[in-house]
Amino acid sequence: MANHRADREAVVEKALAALDLDARCRLLAGQDMWSLPAMPEIGLKSLVMSDGPIGVRGVHWSPEDPSIALPSPTALAATWDPTLARRAGQLLAQEARRKSVHMLLAPTLNLHRSPLGGRHFECYSEDPLLTGAIGAAYVTGVQEGGVAATPKHFVANDSETDRFTVDVRVSQRALHELYLAPFETVVAQAEPWALMAAYNSVNGVTMTEHNALQNEILRARWGFDGAIVSDWTAARNTVGAAVGGLDLAMPGPQSVFGHTLAEAVRAGQVPAETVEQMARHVLRLAARVGALAGAPPEVATVPATINGDALARELAQRSIVLLRNESSVLPLGKLRRIALIGQTADQPRALGGGSAQVFPPHTVSPLDGLRAVLDTDTELVYAVGADPRVKIPAAKEGFDLRVQLCGAGDRLLGEHPLPEATIEWIGEFPDGIGVGELHRVVVTGTFTPRATGAHTLAIAGIGPFRLTVGDVTCFDDAIVPEGDPLAAFLRPPETLFEVELAAGQQVSISLTHTVTTLPEMPIAFEKFSLGHQEPNIDPEALIEEAVAAAASADVAVVVVATTPEVESESFDRTSLSLPGRQDELVARVAAANPRTVVVVNTGSPVRMPWAEDVAAILLTWFPGQEGGAALADVLMGRAEPSGRLPTTWPAHEDDAPVLNVTPTDGALAYEEDVYIGYRAWQRLSIAPAYWFGHGIGYTTWEYESAVFAPDPVGIGVLGTLTVRVRNTGDRPGRETIQTYIAHSSRPERRLAAFAVVEAEPGEAAEVAIPIPRRAAESWDEATETWVLPATAYDLLTGRSVADTRLTTAIRGPHA
Ligand code: BGC
Repeated sequence: MANHRADREAVVEKALAALDLDARCRLLAGQDMWSLPAMPEIGLKSLVMSDGPIGVRGVHWSPEDPSIALPSPTALAATWDPTLARRAGQLLAQEARRKSVHMLLAPTLNLHRSPLGGRHFECYSEDPLLTGAIGAAYVTGVQEGGVAATPKHFVANDSETDRFTVDVRVSQRALHELYLAPFETVVAQAEPWALMAAYNSVNGVTMTEHNALQNEILRARWGFDGAIVSDWTAARNTVGAAVGGLDLAMPGPQSVFGHTLAEAVRAGQVPAETVEQMARHVLRLAARVGALAGAPPEVATVPATINGDALARELAQRSIVLLRNESSVLPLGKLRRIALIGQTADQPRALGGGSAQVFPPHTVSPLDGLRAVLDTDTELVYAVGADPRVKIPAAKEGFDLRVQLCGAGDRLLGEHPLPEATIEWIGEFPDGIGVGELHRVVVTGTFTPRATGAHTLAIAGIGPFRLTVGDVTCFDDAIVPEGDPLAAFLRPPETLFEVELAAGQQVSISLTHTVTTLPEMPIAFEKFSLGHQEPNIDPEALIEEAVAAAASADVAVVVVATTPEVESESFDRTSLSLPGRQDELVARVAAANPRTVVVVNTGSPVRMPWAEDVAAILLTWFPGQEGGAALADVLMGRAEPSGRLPTTWPAHEDDAPVLNVTPTDGALAYEEDVYIGYRAWQRLSIAPAYWFGHGIGYTTWEYESAVFAPDPVGIGVLGTLTVRVRNTGDRPGRETIQTYIAHSSRPERRLAAFAVVEAEPGEAAEVAIPIPRRAAESWDEATETWVLPATAYDLLTGRSVADTRLTTAIRGPHA
């Protein structure tokens, strides 16, 4: 290995020496949305990047090239099992190789500072130790497959409001103990080959130019030797970014690096050695992933093939958290009739939106999953109950559409069938059509209504549109964007029209969109859709139908969810309540059937005002493509619900300790300092709905003993805690043993270590858990070092931060 490293570095140096200043600078700028230029003269292939983190989308933002969709990062963290995260990484490397991707833009290591954070679903936890452990294992898995992982967004990108410009004001202590900590762990344990600099500023300096954090801490102190890539469009200043530690500016072709950087070197504003070092980092990355001829890659042999569908199902099973199970309503026994209720029971939210989006080959809904496992004696009745979608769904049923791509003078450049009226092209247009060549996109065809009445049509998008139905022009104007420039792509605004139509009478439909390309953003980028909703959907009748179904069934299973409009990338949440009438639906179903099981299909915490009135609550997160199958496995008791909360769930949203995600005068002060999540909840007089670490299974556990053996040296670890638990129930089970640490000057508990064990009924399981010294340490701002603040500590071991069963008193190594 050491020799390989030396050989690789030698090839890197040779390649570097063969590049002049202009070529080096060209290497540091994207050539398009997702790749760097190839340089055949030095044997360098074009390095290709792709999002992350639940799948590998590849360079096409479209369903034509499907990707395995694993459960969301919150779900992966809910397994509390780094070995699963590592296997997820290995599968993603396999997907990346299949799609010729060298660099996966994941994992997201930012923290759940506030439950209102819009990308909460894409981060792991409110706890830096759990985030670091899952993140390090994920990176290890990806890189074992020969693909570079790119932990992001370095650092303090914990909310989305004004994310391009927000200046996060945070103390050095909170920065080190919370926000930098997972990155530090991942760099130390998994040595990522790349890392992404965030959009935001930290204490007045934008992250792509942050010399103190990128050069002094990440590289000099932690020893990171990979390449730092900007978040997309985050590099804004040539000199600032180059001297501040950034290596790669993405995307291209317009870039602050490339020839602009070469000019800055010639003008004496950037030292030539800085560019040399930047190019070295990028060539090293290329060499590691096998994209530089002659350099031995980090992984020479392709690992054995993994079954992606099976792993997606296993991860989804393992991530499901059972919050409540009154009278052991779960697992479901032999039943005559089950009522399955909820719009997302049929059309689940399998994954979160934004750059994390992938297009899975199929999605198993709860309805599909239950149908597949129930025997013929059990009747399954389905009712929508409440449809929380505020956006009109894309036109599909009854529509026969195609899309035409037109160039100058309306010359037809390409034409394709359009089974669902959504256009989503980013990075490239179909048929090899170049940016600037595409002038109009026309969605055209027919619609044959099933029902007579006022149908709603909707244009979701920005720019000039013309919509005609039959010979009536409904709209001919421009829709103007507001707010976050990427919101036009991620959350296009919707314009609605009502059209009276008769059942069975076909009408022609045409939606013409005129393409506008910004000269400063010459990127292929089109997203719009034509929505359709049937007339006369009476929300009250939907609820009544569901209540009747529940009343006549042995068990009612209600699936509730957030929508992409309230939980996604590029904006924060304004409320923790479930959208639409879903709370009312659950309350009324529970009143009709005491055996009501609620399945919560969200990426992050929601309020559950009915929690005490239902028999059981299961969290599935955004469970990925096999979510419905995994849910059925857990409902029927074929799999244990062994997930545990990676973040605290408030009962009322005003109780949550951190709610401020909106900058004032451009700055967001992390006034709570080190008190986020359960660290903060422990100082409040009110309790959350469910604590960090909580989750029950289908068996019961006795915590028998926890014995500490100090480490004689005590440098990295304080010692080892040997914990013994016994399965006292009558089913095999899996338990997540959690150890927290507290001491006299800091009575609040902090997670110190954890381990997952399995045992048969009546059996004991024993595990030796190393207690890292860092769990006891604090960052001392005066000396800028880690210190041990006390001589005696308590290790509290149990089932959640609030439910510990054993206390072990220990002495610090310096005592
Ligand atoms: C996101 C990144 C993502 C990038 C490329 C950005 O808007 O913040 O997480 O990797 O886009 O899609």
